[in-house]
Amino acid sequence: MECCKKWLSTSRLFLFICACLSGMLFAFVWRKYEQMVQYSEAYSHYTPALRNTRYDTWLYTQGLMSDLIPEENISFSVRNQKLTTEADFLFQKVSIFCLVRASNVKGAKAVKETWAKHCNSVKFFGPFIDDKIPVFKIPAASSFSPLCQALVHVWKKHYGEFKWILITDDETFAIIENVRYYVASLNASHPYYLGHSAKHYFDYFNMADSGILLSVGAIKTLHSLFPDGNTCIQAPSGHFGVSIGKILQKAEIMPMDTRDQLGKSRFNAFSAEKLLIPGSISIFSSYWKQSVFLSPEGGDCCSDHAITFHGISPSQMYIMEYCVYRLTPFKFSRLGLGNKPPPSSTVKSPKDQQLGKAKVTLIQKERPKKNKGKKLNSTVHDNRWKNFWKSFFSS
Ligand SMILES: *[C@@H]1O[C@H](CO)[C@@H](O)[C@H](O)[C@H]1NC(C)=O
Ligand SMILES: *[C@@H]1O[C@H](CO)[C@@H](O)[C@H](O)[C@H]1NC(C)=O
Ligand SMILES: *[C@@H]1O[C@H](CO)[C@@H](O)[C@H](O)[C@H]1NC(C)=O
Repeated sequence: MECCKKWLSTSRLFLFICACLSGMLFAFVWRKYEQMVQYSEAYSHYTPALRNTRYDTWLYTQGLMSDLIPEENISFSVRNQKLTTEADFLFQKVSIFCLVRASNVKGAKAVKETWAKHCNSVKFFGPFIDDKIPVFKIPAASSFSPLCQALVHVWKKHYGEFKWILITDDETFAIIENVRYYVASLNASHPYYLGHSAKHYFDYFNMADSGILLSVGAIKTLHSLFPDGNTCIQAPSGHFGVSIGKILQKAEIMPMDTRDQLGKSRFNAFSAEKLLIPGSISIFSSYWKQSVFLSPEGGDCCSDHAITFHGISPSQMYIMEYCVYRLTPFKFSRLGLGNKPPPSSTVKSPKDQQLGKAKVTLIQKERPKKNKGKKLNSTVHDNRWKNFWKSFFSS
């Protein structure tokens, strides 16, 4: 009798463990299946893609082409101070208004002292006032109404000063030069609603975490629906990211596939650290389920011209700024200064040896067009499937 009881209790324990394990296995397979459905759905029917904006062709139509100022000229010569760098040119041409949802002074201060310096103008909105930070005070910075009021305010006070608005929070690091590079060739009078596309039931929207980029055309549509602050009360959803998506979807303005030509993400809902190290984002995170256009985890996660990263603490902002804007390895140079590469160098093309800063120079229009805007190579698409199956079997 005693022995029977013991046997019964161990078998119960065994059954319990078995049930748990199979439950976990089922959840895992289900999650992977959902990702797969998401993938195929994304390819079969969805909103338009905006993966290559043909920047070089646009630059050519402006009568300009990009060239390099060698590093020596920047370091040792003052004559080059007259040169316009490509970034300066784009700063004038593609004006970006940064609207930052701030939750506390520390985060807002870090944003103001790091990446926001690169915006043409920046405005914060949030539940506090600070004499050093331009905060537009709106209580409770988490739902739709404050953002709507902030947009109404920006429209009234700053109309005509910008072509694009980038909406982020104070945990986002944005690389504004890459925003300009991405959208320079687009007509901002048309409605563009760019970011990391996601889906929630039947609503397509751009995730708030990875930043939302709106053209003046899209803001104009929003303004026609919400002409003043008093109309901002009727939010279609509790979450402002979903709300904006719902409102714009009604006006037939849809999110787009904003990954680059290689399928790497421009607008990122996580930090580079999390995206670069596979397994850092929980497989049960709604990110996997909601993202419409996923990029693989690991080295291929993020575009070389990525626009945003999210989940960045104030102290990490300063490190990001240093890495993005200042830290540069000192390479060998064309004029023989600096370290020579080892004999078995992997440097292949002159583009890989990029040194110094890019500048824009005038060109004569009758010169043959440089066809730099390469067509999307079909092997990229095949690789995405290969990577998917690889990740399926390896994890
Ligand atoms: C860089 O400096 C060298 C020597 O002064 C000069 O010949 C060259 O034209 C300069 N290049 C640019 C792009 O300014
Ligand atoms: C941009 O679009 C607007 C409205 O469709 C049009 O009036 C304008 O000419 C366009 N601008 C350029 C530079 O194509
Ligand atoms: C696509 O890229 C691969 C390697 O990246 C190359 O071998 C292949 O020739 C390319 N195909 C086309 C059509 O350009």
